[in-house]
Amino acid sequence: MVAADLYADLEVDIAYVEERLRDQLRSTQPILEDAAIHLLKAGGKRLRPVFVLLAGKFGTYDVRSLANVAVGLELIHMATLVHDDVIDNSDRRRGNPTVKAHFGNRVAMYTGDFIFAQALSVLSEVPDLRAHQILSAAIEHMCMGEIEQIRDLYSLAQNLRNYLKRIRRKTALLIEMSCALGAIVSNSDASIIRTLQRFGYYAGMAFQITDDILDFTASAERLGKPIGGDLRQGNITIPVLYALRDSDQRDELRKLISPTQTTEQVIRAITIVKESGAITSAQALADRYLKKADRALASLPATPTRDSLIELAKFVGQRDH
Ligand code: IPE
Ligand code: IPE
Ligand code: MG
Ligand code: MG
Ligand code: MG
Repeated sequence: MVAADLYADLEVDIAYVEERLRDQLRSTQPILEDAAIHLLKAGGKRLRPVFVLLAGKFGTYDVRSLANVAVGLELIHMATLVHDDVIDNSDRRRGNPTVKAHFGNRVAMYTGDFIFAQALSVLSEVPDLRAHQILSAAIEHMCMGEIEQIRDLYSLAQNLRNYLKRIRRKTALLIEMSCALGAIVSNSDASIIRTLQRFGYYAGMAFQITDDILDFTASAERLGKPIGGDLRQGNITIPVLYALRDSDQRDELRKLISPTQTTEQVIRAITIVKESGAITSAQALADRYLKKADRALASLPATPTRDSLIELAKFVGQRDH
């Protein structure tokens, strides 16, 4: 399912964004185009474009200018996925082999850069300078979040605060920006831009918390990417932090998390996390962010679009893929 399936009235505009995405990934270099199209065609929920289009409905809705932002942000997202799968040594994405698995790490690095360049190209159609300033700041923060994740691998000294700061940077910001830029491009008032940005922040936090839960609970087939990878890579996410706090087996869990861990130890650690009640606590945290997302929208006019945003946030926090 793509996110747009929730909204019949976005169907035509999402199809237009899809067409623009395809056009933007053409290249005279066949390997680059193949690798990028391979990821595009594999699917994906297209969440960021839907956030952009819905945010655009609070101002003067012009699908052509909104599509520049929607395509640009989905391409930035895709570029980060290609690089992320190299960093996380991940073999499946969107139900298919990753670019790194299919074409190798070297091609994957340049494919990520190529997709990123195509994002810059389409974003150059956006005349508002604010959009470019906030986007470059967001991308800088995304890199910081990923570097902090590398710094914190296997670290038992980290706490909830480190985790929340990291996921805000690595994931929530892009969703925040999707909402803010949708509003900016459709010439909304500053207060509406701020409100939608805040909504996007909360929804984005719920989104990554859910992604981290799904890494423990999902079916790999439904998710389209491997599960259990976070702990295998030493990435300590919210279910692990709660288990380290709450589980009767927390001393054993602490010993299991180490750069020298074996596959059996990772499997044991995953079992401890799942039996500790940590998944329920993590879901409760995601739900708290979703409530904040809902409340953030209270100052907006009660239109069907506002209901759609609330529904989209709910989907983000309750999805199984
Ligand atoms: C995956 O994002 C990467 C994260 C930020 C967690 P999505 O779950 O939106 O990936 P696609 O686009 O649907 O494949
Ligand atoms: C999302 O984190 C990072 C990005 C910003 C791409 P993950 O590493 O958890 O994403 P998935 O689970 O591989 O999609
Ligand atoms: Mg990652
Ligand atoms: Mg990953
Ligand atoms: Mg993940």
